[in-house]
Amino acid sequence: MVSANRPDPFMPAYRYEQLVQAVVDYAIYMLDPSGYVVSWNAGAERIKGYRAEEVIGRHFSLFFTPQDCLDGRPERLLRQALDQGVAQDEGWRVRKDGTQFWALAALDVIRDHHGQVIGLAKITRDITDRRDSALQLDAMRAQLFQAQKLEALGQLTGGLAHDFNNLLTIILSSARLALVSKDPARTQNLLEHIVDAGQRGAQLTRQLLSFARHQQFTVTRVNPVELVASTRSLLEHALPDDIELEQQLAPDLPLIEVDAGQLQMVLLNLLFNARDAIEGAGQIRLEVRVVTLVGEVEGLHGQFVRFDVHDTGQGIAPYVLPRIFEPFFTTKPFGKGTGLGLSQVYGFAKQSNGAICVASSEGQGTCMSLYLPAQQHDGDLQPNE
Ligand SMILES: Nc1ncnc2c1ncn2[C@@H]1O[C@H](COP(=O)(O)OP(=O)(O)OP(=O)(O)O)[C@@H](O)[C@H]1O
Ligand SMILES: [Mg+2]
Repeated sequence: MVSANRPDPFMPAYRYEQLVQAVVDYAIYMLDPSGYVVSWNAGAERIKGYRAEEVIGRHFSLFFTPQDCLDGRPERLLRQALDQGVAQDEGWRVRKDGTQFWALAALDVIRDHHGQVIGLAKITRDITDRRDSALQLDAMRAQLFQAQKLEALGQLTGGLAHDFNNLLTIILSSARLALVSKDPARTQNLLEHIVDAGQRGAQLTRQLLSFARHQQFTVTRVNPVELVASTRSLLEHALPDDIELEQQLAPDLPLIEVDAGQLQMVLLNLLFNARDAIEGAGQIRLEVRVVTLVGEVEGLHGQFVRFDVHDTGQGIAPYVLPRIFEPFFTTKPFGKGTGLGLSQVYGFAKQSNGAICVASSEGQGTCMSLYLPAQQHDGDLQPNE
């Protein structure tokens, strides 16, 4: 700060002045209540390029861009600081040589002992470098996101075209053969192939719609115990003898409001994945219980029924893990997996206001946890009503 008389070096005010003058990374200066500069430190000179005698007595709008001045930005900041005691701003400022820098500025009202406003303290930092790196990081993130999106899209269209092509080949060749066949039994057999291929196509689109969350759900109140029982009966024949299926159901499970058919498909998908991950002998454990979430799982709150499918399989490699919910992502050999199972699980969990989480360690096994909102107990409704 500038002062005409030589100050007493032991006065606290002098020490403060020394301190403020020593700061070179921040522009620290004072304005009078109308916005005219009354003091100037070394940092202000370094950042803005003006010496104290060039700038004291001039209005602080001098540091704003012509457009900001036209928009009334300096006045607005001043008014806000006078009304609320403080104002903060981030934006372009102009140096003496006309170049611009990105500034982070704070304006604080200073009052005397009687509460009268005597001026404003202005602190400005040049954060151009910080802004540039943040922008660069944003641009890189956007590029990465775009690349991932394109890859997923390529995989989606490639996978779709491939699967539908296979089905169309079956339909067309069977239809051609049926047209020329004289044997009614053979024609019947070929027509069955056509219906089967058509149904698989319909199933494929259903799974896709479910991932895209455009599937129409038929929501009912479902009893988890009944659902697990019917799912097990479907699964029994599909499990090899040396894979043991264990189940643990907590007592008094609440009802859940979901599409029962979809949930069954979800559980089957999880159980089939568990089965496929086990080479030789192993164990799958299906555990169902109630948990209270307070935001730790995808920000969900409240009571949820949690279905855990544990397996003692090969686990999931860390580089595979981020991709398992992508449609058509599969590590299974050609003809073994479509890569749509977990994308259906994901779409279902989201559309049912729940979540799907995975914990896996390579060589040890995997646990997939599905959370679905629990219904409050009310005696009027029966399960699956
Ligand atoms: N329990 C698990 N253990 C190990 N890897 C798993 C497990 N569940 C899923 N994965 C991995 O995630 C990939 C994607 O699973 P997803 O169910 O979507 O497709 P898929 O099983 O390959 O084919 P689909 O289910 O359509 O027949 C699998 O190929 C596999 O690599
Ligand atoms: Mg699967």
